[in-house]
Formats: sequence, structure tokens, C-alpha cells
Amino acid sequence: MKVTVFGIGYVGLVQAAVLASVGHDVVCVDVDEAKVENLKKGLIPIYEPGLTPLVEETYQNGLLNFTTDAEMGVTHGDIQFIAVGTPPDEDGSADLKYVLAVAETIATYMNTPKIIVDKSTVPVGTADKVTNKISNVLLDRGETIDFNVASNPEFLKEGAAVSDCMKPDRIVVGTDNEHVKSSMRELYAPFNRNHDRMIFMDVRSAELTKYAANCMLATKISFMNEMSNLAERLGADIEAVRHGIGSDSRIGYQFIYPGCGYGGSCFPKDVQALIRTSNEIGYSPSLLTAVETVNVAQKQKLYSNLNDYFKGELAGKTIALWGLSFKPQTDDMREASSIVLMKALWEAGAKVQAYDPEAMEECQRIFGSRDDLLLVGTKESALNNADALVVCTEWSQFRAPDFNLIADQLNHKVIVDGRNLYDPQLMLEKGFSYYGIGRGESV
Ligand code: UGA
Repeated sequence: MKVTVFGIGYVGLVQAAVLASVGHDVVCVDVDEAKVENLKKGLIPIYEPGLTPLVEETYQNGLLNFTTDAEMGVTHGDIQFIAVGTPPDEDGSADLKYVLAVAETIATYMNTPKIIVDKSTVPVGTADKVTNKISNVLLDRGETIDFNVASNPEFLKEGAAVSDCMKPDRIVVGTDNEHVKSSMRELYAPFNRNHDRMIFMDVRSAELTKYAANCMLATKISFMNEMSNLAERLGADIEAVRHGIGSDSRIGYQFIYPGCGYGGSCFPKDVQALIRTSNEIGYSPSLLTAVETVNVAQKQKLYSNLNDYFKGELAGKTIALWGLSFKPQTDDMREASSIVLMKALWEAGAKVQAYDPEAMEECQRIFGSRDDLLLVGTKESALNNADALVVCTEWSQFRAPDFNLIADQLNHKVIVDGRNLYDPQLMLEKGFSYYGIGRGESV
């Protein structure tokens, strides 16, 4: 099938490459010329396992193309995906200007019937806005061309995006049009294996499904973080509690890992956007507000542990930081707990010596050169002459470090573990002061 994807960001690029890999003829359109030229040379703007070979292969066999020529893009695809960004504006609501600009572009150049699919995460009601925009432009052009706007939210996880896209749990499509249903079925047939994963519903329900899924997952995490704060005060171990409750299949083991707060481009933004949408319609979402509040507080925890240990005297201290990305297998630092920690440390006059397997360039890009940030090439060199170690991201290489080396290198034997990677008992035996998340009193 002929497909056009507007927006070569994270979602658009993965979706386009995966569709091309099963034989669809895909054109990606973006306004960023440099990005388009780089992609043609095989330079992929994001780190995502499996994505580079997929893009290279599909570009070389001609099924994936990149252009800034919007007219060509509109002419190409019978199905037009809108996968541009919806950044939060100051009040937390999703800014639709890029989505509506693409709708306008499609309406300006379309000369044959099109199915327009919202892939970006957009507030409930956006498909109606896109429909109105296209209708108005067509009216101005004096044209009557058939079109349908559907919602097809994505459920990719960073770090596993290609495999999530190849083997989706479900493919949600919001439409009440039979032609759109059969086209989407055909488009996704290569991924709809074993049992029917297509879930059709009305457009508004599809739009809300995306927010509900992310808000539910964020709720599980904030719930566990709240329990971990209780566990700490009650002398219980949240890791035992996690096993205890996860074994109930109604609760399950997934997304109940306590930590230093959820980050990334999705959970914080989507929870805030749904709060904003609720407020707009005169509803106060107490639970969502609490989920957000707990998360904001949880991101302060690593700093407050350090501050407790050093009795408020962090000025002049050097803190080794392992992990900058908001989770492993990505270089993405958006809303990462590491950022909250570093800013608080700098404010207190401390220095940071940081290492991350993938996110060093990203950190450099965000913060530039500064005297109180040293980005180093290995996890061991981050320890050089440092006063304490903080683990922010659970990269595998941080799970079984040489504790004797850590003890040797650090000026103070203290580890703040934002991901519960280490055994508190072992830490005690090795003579560390150890702060986990919700693991009883710190030892
Ligand atoms: C999330 C969802 O998991 C995807 O299903 C969704 O498609 C995506 O958002 C999106 O809307 O695009 P992602 O942001 O890539 O995916 O990352 P997650 O793996 O969900 O992790 C989010 C954050 O939650 C991370 O900071 C992670 O450390 C934290 N987390 C996750 C916990 O603190 N505890 C857990 O048990 C799980």
C-alpha cells in the first residue's frame, strides 16, 4: 500500500521503517532539511535498537523514502499518517499547531481520496479538529474530495520500539467508516498474527485509550513509589512487597518497580495533558493530580538522601552519577530524574561526574560545558575522587559493579541507589551507607 508519514520523529520514523520492511511503499515528509539529508545518508537521529539496519535496508530497496516536498508526500500516500510532535505548552496541554499544520498541508495538495490517520498522541477531540481544518481548506479550494480522519495511537516503548511495532499487543483504530477499517486491516495484516489484534472503536474512545493506557501505567508507578515511602517509614522492604503483590495476577509484576520517578517524553506529558483536558471540561481529576504530585516529589528523593547523608553540606562535594537517560536502552533524557538531581546538586554547590552508556552526547547538548559537570568515558572513572555514588538508570552494566573498587575510590562509602539494583545486606557487609528506594531504614 502507498503510505505517507508526516513527521520523522521517534514515532514517525519507527512506524515508517517497520511498514516499509513488510513491503509497503512509504514516503516520510519532514520540514527539517538537514534531518532528511542525513537520513538519506543513513544517519539516524535517535538511538533505538534495530532501527538503523531497518532504515538502511528499506531505504536501499526503495520502499522507504525521505523528502521535504510536502506536495509529493500528499500525492504519494492513500494513507497519510500525522506523526508530528505535540509538545506541552505552558499550561501542560498538548499543543496542536504542528498537527493542524499538517492537516492544512494535506488538504492543500490532495487531489484523490485520502485516509488521514492521527498517530501523534493528541487530546480527545483532535480528529474532529483535523476534519474541520481539512473541510475548510477544501471548501476554500472549491473541491469536494472524499477523506476520512481516523485515530491510531501508538504504544511503543523507547528502547523496544521496533519490536513493539513489529509485534504489537493491540492495534487500536478509531473510526466508524467501513472502508477505513478494511484499509487499516490490510495495512497492518503482516503484524496481526496469532489472534486478531485489531481493536476498532469510535474516534474519541481511541484518542482516550492512549491517555488512559499511559496514565494507568504512571498510576501503578506512583502508587509503588508512595508504598516505598511508607515502607521506609515502617521498616518494611518494598522489594518484598513488590513480589508479594505482583504474584496476584490481577496486579501483575509489570510496572510496579519503585524508583526515582518516571520520566521520558510520554508519562509526564500525558498525565499533565489529561489533567488539563479534565480541567477544561470542568472536572477535577484527583487521582491523576496525585499521580503527578507523587512523581514530582519522588524525583527529589536522590538529592534529599545525599543531603541527609552530608547533613546539608553538599557545597564542594563531587558526586559520581551512573545513568543519565530516563531509562536504559535509550539516549533520551527528557524529564529524566538525573536532570532534577543534577540541577539540585549544582544549586547546592556540588559537582557532578557522570557516565551513561548512550546519553553523554545528549547531556552535553542540553547543558553544554560547565565547570560543575564532568562527563567521563567509563563508570569507573566517574568514581575518581568522588564523595558519593548515585545510580539513576538501571543499565545492565551497573547491576554487578566491583564494590571493592567503589569503596576504594569514594571519599565517603555511600551509595544512593535510585533503582534498587543492590542488595542492602551486601551493602551493609561491604561497609557502605546505602540508600535504596523503600528498603527499610537506610543502613
Ligand atoms: C511509555 C509506555 O510504556 C508506552 O507503552 C507508550 O507507547 C509510550 O510511553 C508512549 O506514549 O509513547 P516509554 O516512555 O518509552 O513508554 O517508557 P517506559 O518503559 O514506559 O518507562 C517510563 C518511565 O517509567 C521510565 O522513567 C521508567 O524508569 C519508569 N518506570 C517504569 C518505573 O519507574 N517503574 C516501572 O515499574 C516501570
